[in-house]
Order: sequence, then C-alpha cells, then structure tokens
Amino acid sequence: MRIFLDTANVEEIRNAAKLGVISGVTTNPSLVAREQRADFKDVIKEIASIIDGPISAEVTSLNAKEMISQAREIATWSPNVVIKVPITPAGIEATSVLSKENIKCNLTLCFSPNQALLCALAGAAYISPFVGRLDDISHDGMQLVSDVVAIYKRYDFSTQVIAASIRHPMHCVIAAKAGAHIATVPFKVLMQMINHPLTDIGIDRFMEDWKRLSGK
Ligand code: E4P
Repeated sequence: MRIFLDTANVEEIRNAAKLGVISGVTTNPSLVAREQRADFKDVIKEIASIIDGPISAEVTSLNAKEMISQAREIATWSPNVVIKVPITPAGIEATSVLSKENIKCNLTLCFSPNQALLCALAGAAYISPFVGRLDDISHDGMQLVSDVVAIYKRYDFSTQVIAASIRHPMHCVIAAKAGAHIATVPFKVLMQMINHPLTDIGIDRFMEDWKRLSGK
C-alpha cells in the first residue's frame, strides 16, 4: 500500500517528502482554505513541484459542464495533477468525459459500494472512500474499503482505492490488510505511524549502554 499525504500545507509536505515514503498528495477545498493562500493554482503547482506522484486538486463547481472546463484548466497546471470530483450525477458525467480525454479523476466523498462501482464504470483513476466520516456516524468505514477492493478485484477494474478520511494509525493497518492501493493520511498520522514508545525506550537504553562502554 502506498502512502499519500492529505494536506495543502506545503511545510508539512516538504518535511514528509524528506522521508522518501510519500508518493502523492490529496487536497480538498477545506484543506486549501485552511492555508489562507490567495491563489489555488500557486498552491497546487508548488505541491506538484515537491512530490512527483499524483496531486489531487478538487473542482469547485457542481455543474457537469463547469466541472469539465475547470478540470481541463487544472490539468494544465502540472503533468501529475489529478482532478478530484465529488460523486454526484454531474460528477460522474464529468468523469466519463474527462477519462476519455485521459484526464485522471479521483472520485471523492465515497460512502457506498454502489457509488464506487459507478465511478469505476465512468473511468475514474482513483476512488476515495471516506473512512473516518463513516466511523463518525457509527458505520464501519473500513468495511466500505474492503467491499470496494473486493468488487474492483472481482471485475478487474483498474480504479485504485485510496482509503481517505484517515484519523489514526490503526486505520492504515486495516486499510493495508483490506488491500487498499493507497492510504492518504494527515501529517500527524504519518508521524504516529513512525513513533513507538518501545523504540524510544530501546534507543535510550542503547545510548546509555554505549555511553557506559565509552566512559562518557
Ligand atoms: C481525502 O481526499 C480528503 O481530503 C480527506 O481524507 C478528508 O478527511 P476528513 O474526513 O478528515 O476531512
């Protein structure tokens, strides 16, 4: 399973990129708004210059025609930009058109296997089931990831599953076991995936023993 960073914060992306384990970035209008930067295009171009892999930038129109023209414009910003499209009738219509033009779409706000099936039929390059938001309303978000992975496998769809709305490190473990192609994680969760108290205790002990040996 690959790891994307779910943020529009360039500082976080630069820090995470140093680890060499991040192969893409997802943004959404809320994440971009949080950064309070005037020019959306500048933000996306800067992110795309840091990370080589797919960078999701979301359309902000709800109308198919406007989504398509926004997507065509966004796709010119960088060769690795992917268009994030919400799952509505207009979004699916736009995806069907864009996928025929080889413009990659990441279908977002996925909350059901039926939505995921239709997105794959429309030619989506990626689907983003929102795990945390389902958990928030007492549904099993990871069950959705497993169901979508199973359906895509069963019919040999090439659409890649991005486990999204990840809230804690266990979500990443379960997404990996379920066969998600990608988990997109906030910077905080990425750090939580690395940290382990036993690693810290082990390092302290090694350092103390080493100091004792060298007499310092
Ligand atoms: C995914 O692409 C979304 O940007 C993101 O995962 C949403 O997460 P949230 O439910 O924590 O806002």
